[in-house]
Amino acid sequence: MTEKDFVPSAYHNLKEEGVVGFKSPSNIALVKYWGKKENQIPANPSISFTLDACATKTILTYSKLEKRATDFSFDLIFEGKPKPSFTPKITTFFSRIVTYVPFLLDYHFVIETSNSFPHSSGIASSASGMSALALCLMEIEKELNPEMSDTQFIQKASFLSRLGSGSACRSIQGDIVQWGNHTDTDRSSDLYGIKYPYEVHKLFRNYHDTILLVDKGEKQVSSTVGHDLMHDHPFARQRFAQAHENLTKLKSVFKEGDLKEFIKIVESEALTLHAMMMTSHPYFILMKPNTLEIINKIWAFRERSGTHVCFTLDAGANVHVLYPENEKEEVYQFIKNELVVYCQNQQYICDRIGFGAKRINVGLDN
Ligand code: DP6
Repeated sequence: MTEKDFVPSAYHNLKEEGVVGFKSPSNIALVKYWGKKENQIPANPSISFTLDACATKTILTYSKLEKRATDFSFDLIFEGKPKPSFTPKITTFFSRIVTYVPFLLDYHFVIETSNSFPHSSGIASSASGMSALALCLMEIEKELNPEMSDTQFIQKASFLSRLGSGSACRSIQGDIVQWGNHTDTDRSSDLYGIKYPYEVHKLFRNYHDTILLVDKGEKQVSSTVGHDLMHDHPFARQRFAQAHENLTKLKSVFKEGDLKEFIKIVESEALTLHAMMMTSHPYFILMKPNTLEIINKIWAFRERSGTHVCFTLDAGANVHVLYPENEKEEVYQFIKNELVVYCQNQQYICDRIGFGAKRINVGLDN
């Protein structure tokens, strides 16, 4: 597949108006995407667990303009209120995808969106938000082109999401999604995410992710700035090679259910992401003292309990605590007893591996 394959043939019979909706989850990367080239092409492949509870719901209402416009026409309502600060993001997204969804200039849109996770929790909403919007647009495209197969729908939804936010292309499906060319993964692509195509041991079913909200402030480094810092980064080449190797190693880890090796890869990926930020110019420390307290507590608990709890981090101070279903009681007690004190206002979110985005029945479920 190339970009050109996502350009549709001319539409006939544009509908006058309609309404579509999707709920799309966030995801947590195990091998991290950090660094990108032109047109949202990742510098290295990545893989993530799709989440379940952390999600964005988007309802998109569209009405045909009298005449095809030259600029995008939309209103954005976030959690019931107009949100002008989101306008530039949506405009950039639309301008990146208009070649692939040309009807964008034929309609006025009302985008109503809300997140399941608390506002300003420090949890990035770009993956769930951009994928929910991309899916709504695909639903309109499907109305115009009903012959589209499910595979085409999912692939293009991921392709469009990527152009909104790279990690968003991993939110369409579940439960494990890989994105980016990788020689050891058949059908992998830089253009969209694919459902992980190999055997996964049952230990990874229903995996838990408890997200500890250590710092709910605005991100200190936007992901755009962060990715840019990889351009002249002294360790970039080694880092990108490492991501490829880690993906190859994960293949047998997933197959065998090798949790010890899983932990090594996942924690090393998280710390490498932060090490990249600490060693770029300018440099940043995105962890907070409580992030480190939590990491040390997790290591001590793992040692004494023999459980397989581990952590990963995004580009911020919050900690994702990962653990298998069969250890959930013991680990959850530990989280409550020992880790929650390090969270801002004791806040945390219990999430788990999920199965991807779902259509919202706009007639009833809205
Ligand atoms: C640290 O997907 O937010 O979460 O493509 O610029 O929107 P843009 O970046 P974004 O980067 C996410 C980076 C990460 C790691 C990951 O999810 O793989």
